[in-house]
This record gives sequence, structure tokens and C-alpha cells, in this order.
Amino acid sequence: MRKILVTGAMGQIGSELVSQLREYYGTSNVIGSDLWKKDGEEGPFEIVDVTDEKAIHDAAKKHKVDTIMHLAALLSAKAEAVPKIAWDLNMGGLINALEAARDLDLQFFTPSSIGAFGPTTPKKNTPQKTIMRPTTMYGVNKVAGELLCDYYYYRYGVDTRGVRYPGLISHVTPPGGGTTDYAVEIYYEAMKHKTYTSYIAQNTYMDMMYMPDALNAIIQLMEADPGKLVHRNAYNISAISAAPEDFAKAIRKHIPEFELAYDVDPVRQQIAESWPDNLDSSAAAEEWGFKAEYDIDKMTADMLTKLQVK
Ligand code: NAD
Ligand code: SER
Repeated sequence: MRKILVTGAMGQIGSELVSQLREYYGTSNVIGSDLWKKDGEEGPFEIVDVTDEKAIHDAAKKHKVDTIMHLAALLSAKAEAVPKIAWDLNMGGLINALEAARDLDLQFFTPSSIGAFGPTTPKKNTPQKTIMRPTTMYGVNKVAGELLCDYYYYRYGVDTRGVRYPGLISHVTPPGGGTTDYAVEIYYEAMKHKTYTSYIAQNTYMDMMYMPDALNAIIQLMEADPGKLVHRNAYNISAISAAPEDFAKAIRKHIPEFELAYDVDPVRQQIAESWPDNLDSSAAAEEWGFKAEYDIDKMTADMLTKLQVK
């Protein structure tokens, strides 16, 4: 049975990934870790600062894990506010986690992002291999991180794997300071106030994905036959290409009086304009069977149902 250490386990992805992994592999086989732990958190957990190389190594060794899923990072908008801190966390944390994987012979997963692309990247049906010249600190970290994971595979034989996530939409833990966060906020505000003011401008398309598809992708990729993985770090995956008005249209099918206004934030708008409209995920489909289940209407119906209960 696989035994996994998840870093950044209190975040938007980690909080749901740990539960899903525990259902799949058993509670005692999934060790959550973060700088903090929320009250009532059950199951094995370690307080680990990923910028402390020894702390990650010790936690992995103590629990005899065979896999690290490394999620701790600063997202795009926050990273743009504190670029040096972002570099230290996003790159320093990654190499520390990779070193633990190298020393203890562990399988390794970390997510890249649509943020790895830049304004000179083809925007539509963005190929798996293409120009990558990001103009944000987050993007620089993500491209460097993809290359670093390749390096640990070729140089040391570490079984590194990764995906380029779109903006993720979920209802359990709010997003941690990204450019795509509006696509989560719009659902909360639709439920609470039937209105939302978007900091991203009309007609700005970005790739988005519902959390269940994002979590299934990790498990599927980590269980995939290594012999079939040509593009290990990192696979384009894609589900929903949408602008703010597309979310509004989907929400109005359930809340007809929903109103959308705009008050554009120039920093996040510039980041959004530098990212692709939608990625070509054919390599992920061919090499390990990736397929998204949720389109915008199916996701919206589920989001609103779940938020109503909440
Ligand atoms: P998040 O901001 O919600 O969570 C990050 C977690 O890392 C937090 O719980 C935080 O406490 C923890 N953390 C911060 N500094 C730490 C440190 N020094 N040591 C240990 N933990 C620390 O992020 P997320 O959305 O869950 O993203 C996880 C990963 O997925 C990141 O690499 C991110 O770039 C990537 N990703 C996320 C999205 C998305 O839309 N959420 C999209 C693409 C890629
Ligand atoms: N959702 C993330 C962000 O906006 C994409 O990597 O930063």
C-alpha cells in the first residue's frame, strides 16, 4: 500500500486531496503536513516548514512514506506582491522536498500551472511543448520547478511527476491568493448576495477546472505506468475555458437575478492576460488517460448545491 506525505495540506488543494487520498489508500497511509493545523483535523499530521530541509526529511523518514506530494507554495497574485519570499518558498521548498525524495527513494508529485506560460505563448489550444517565457515570479518559479523535477529524474532517477493545473474551483477551502480566485468568489457571492464585482475584465479567458477532476488527475498520474510517461513534468490538463461572463451565464440558470459588475485590478488583469485561454491536454489523455468530467454547467450545479448546504 502506498504511503504519502502531503505538504501544504491545509490549502485549497491539500485540504481535499488528503481526504480523497485517505479514502483511497487508508487514513493511516496519508500524512498531512503544513505550517499549521486546523482544529478538529483528524489523521496523521506533522507541522513542517518546507523551507527547513531537515524537517521534510525527518517527517518523511519518521512515517516511512514512499511518496511526497508537494503542494506548499505561494500563488501568483501573492507572489507578485513579495517576489523574493515567493522565490525562497517556491524554489527552496521544492528543492528541499526533492532532496528528501532523492535520499529516501520516494515517488514525487508537484503541480505546475497555466502560470508557467507567458504572453508570447500561443493562447489557444496551447501545446504541451511551446514557448514558455512567463512574466511573473510565480511563472518563473513554475517553469524552473518543472525543469528541476526533470533534472532530479534524469540525474538521480527520482520518479517525479506533475501537471500544469488550470485555475481550480472548489467549495471546501478558499483559494490562497491566485489570479483565478475570482472564479471561486463568484459562486460564494452569488449564493450570499446574488451579485459579484469581478477584478478580472470581461472577455478575459483562462483555463479552469473543478476540484474533483484535479484530484482524480493526481491519483491517475501517480498510478500510471511509468513506461508510458514521456512528458513527466508537467502535463497540460484542461477542462473549462471561461471568462467572468461565462460563469455569470451558468449561475443565472440557477439564480436568474444574479448580476455581474466589473472593477478591474490592473495587477491581476495583466497576469491573466499573459496566460493561455485553454491548454491542449492530448499528451495527458494519451499517456495516462486524463479526461475531465465537469464542464461549466455541471460544475456550477454542483458548486451551488454544495454552497447552499454550507
Ligand atoms: P494554497 O495557497 O491554498 O495552500 C498552500 C498551503 O501551503 C497553505 O496551507 C500554506 O499554509 C502552506 N504553506 C505556506 N508556506 C509554507 C511553508 N513554508 N511550509 C509548509 N507549508 C506552507 O495553495 P493551493 O491552491 O492548494 O496550491 C497548491 C499547489 O498547487 C501550489 O504549488 C500551486 O502553485 C499549485 N496550483 C494551484 C492552483 C489553484 O488554482 N489552486 C492552480 C495551479 C497550480
Ligand atoms: N490559480 C492559480 C493562480 O491564479 C494558477 O496557478 O495563481
